[in-house]
Amino acid sequence: MNISLVVAVSQNGVIGKDGALPWHLPRDMQFFRELTTGHCVLMGRKTYFSIPEAYRPFKNRTNIVLSADKTLQIAGCKVCANLQEAIDFAQSQKETELMAIGGAVLFAEIMAKNLADTLYITEIKENITGDVFFPAWQKENYQANLLLSQEKDEKHAFAFDIVRYDRKV
Ligand SMILES: NC(=O)c1ccc[n+]([C@@H]2O[C@H](COP(=O)([O-])OP(=O)(O)OC[C@H]3O[C@@H](n4cnc5c(N)ncnc54)[C@H](OP(=O)(O)O)[C@@H]3O)[C@@H](O)[C@H]2O)c1
Repeated sequence: MNISLVVAVSQNGVIGKDGALPWHLPRDMQFFRELTTGHCVLMGRKTYFSIPEAYRPFKNRTNIVLSADKTLQIAGCKVCANLQEAIDFAQSQKETELMAIGGAVLFAEIMAKNLADTLYITEIKENITGDVFFPAWQKENYQANLLLSQEKDEKHAFAFDIVRYDRKV
């Protein structure tokens, strides 16, 4: 099973602000929906509860939420106590590509353990104020491929590229 990471990052490394995303980018949300549909999506508890109620759990995906709180139960989600338990659960579901979707705590653990085979990064071409950051990572170990570019328009306050990074063999 491959492990992928899906994230949107500003030029200055921001991924979140005040427990939410500091941008609204419909083309990126569409990409996220298409990419993750049919897969196990893995997220930290704070990210799960940052999703607007109408959209959670994510439809047509197996939602896995990490929390050390053993009493936590979330309807429609599998709650796991640690990363290994989540990986084992996804494997038991015959998943081929587990998608880690945030937040910073989960991303930091995956990158520190060198577990990411692929990163799908929405690279926002702007410095944005925030309080949660993507961790430092070893970009040189990955091969970049541009998937799409979005210019600023009436629906998108910021331009961005979506880049797929695959671990070099
Ligand atoms: N830009 C993006 O692509 C993107 C994506 C996702 C999220 N975000 C943003 O990121 C922010 C939230 O991120 P965050 O870093 O503050 O929190 P987070 O990673 O979403 O959640 C942290 C919580 O997850 C649980 N957790 C994480 N790793 C665990 C592990 N190995 N074992 C057990 N539990 C674990 C813990 O929950 P307990 O405290 O319950 O134990 C921990 O407090 C929000 O602003 C959100 O909007 C941005």
